[in-house]
Parts: sequence; structure tokens; C-alpha cells
Amino acid sequence: MGSAISGEALVQHALAARAHAYAPYSQFKVGCVLLGWDGTLFAGCNVENGAYGPTNCAERTALFRAIADGHKPRSFTALAVVGDTEQPITPCGVCRQVMAELCAPDMPVYMANLKGDMMETTVSALLPGAFQLPEQST
Ligand code: THU
Repeated sequence: MGSAISGEALVQHALAARAHAYAPYSQFKVGCVLLGWDGTLFAGCNVENGAYGPTNCAERTALFRAIADGHKPRSFTALAVVGDTEQPITPCGVCRQVMAELCAPDMPVYMANLKGDMMETTVSALLPGAFQLPEQST
């Protein structure tokens, strides 16, 4: 069962979200979009902070935004992320852990760069053996 919107189209939405990135320290802007079960698109961008630690990646911004908006964990159907990298950008380890908890293991993840390269993977392929508390594994 594919989603109604293509990976390429999701990347275009992620590109639009990237324009909102707040990255004055790294100058590295990232955009993301998360597709809800009902077709809702949740945009995310990285939001940096002068204390560095509080910086939030684009992927987690989109995921937390969707949860805050009332969408349920594992109800999402795809995620796309884009950054200015040589190869398609790949999510950081922290975002992989968050995706592993909030997204279905087989959910497609589209990774892209500004040159139009795109790769498709899944949540479980990005973080095999992700940590889960015992009560989450049922
Ligand atoms: N960043 C993301 O937003 N997503 C990624 O997948 C990789 C890294 C952000 C965090 C920080 O604001 C900047 O990119 C440099 O690491």
C-alpha cells in the first residue's frame, strides 16, 4: 500500500519547510515533512539554540508537531527529509530513535539533497534493534 503522495512530492514539501530553518550557528538548513494517515502534512525544520544542546532537528520538529496536534504514534505513512549534502541526507541517531518509537517500522523514509538525489529506506532499516521499553514491545 503506497501513500497517495509520491516521495518526490514529499521532498518538495520538505524543501519548502527547509526555508524556515533557524540555523544561525551551523548555517546548515534542514527541512522535513511527515505525512499523517489522513493526508495531513506536518512540516519541520531544524531550530538551533545558542546553548547548542537544545537544538532540534527538522525530523523531530515534524514528529513532535504531529504528536502535539493529536496524531497518534505509528499512525504516520511517510517522512521526507532534505539538506544540502553531497549524498542524500541521513537522519541523526537521536532522530532515528525517536522515529523508531513514533513511526511504524516499515514506514518509508525519503532522504534527499538539493541536487535532486533521493534515497528511500524504512524506519527499521535506519535503526535495527532500536531500544524499546518492555511495555512498548507489545
Ligand atoms: N540536522 C537536522 O535537522 N537533521 C538531520 O538529519 C541532521 C542534522 C540539523 C541539526 C543542526 O541544526 C544542523 O543540522 C547541523 O547538525
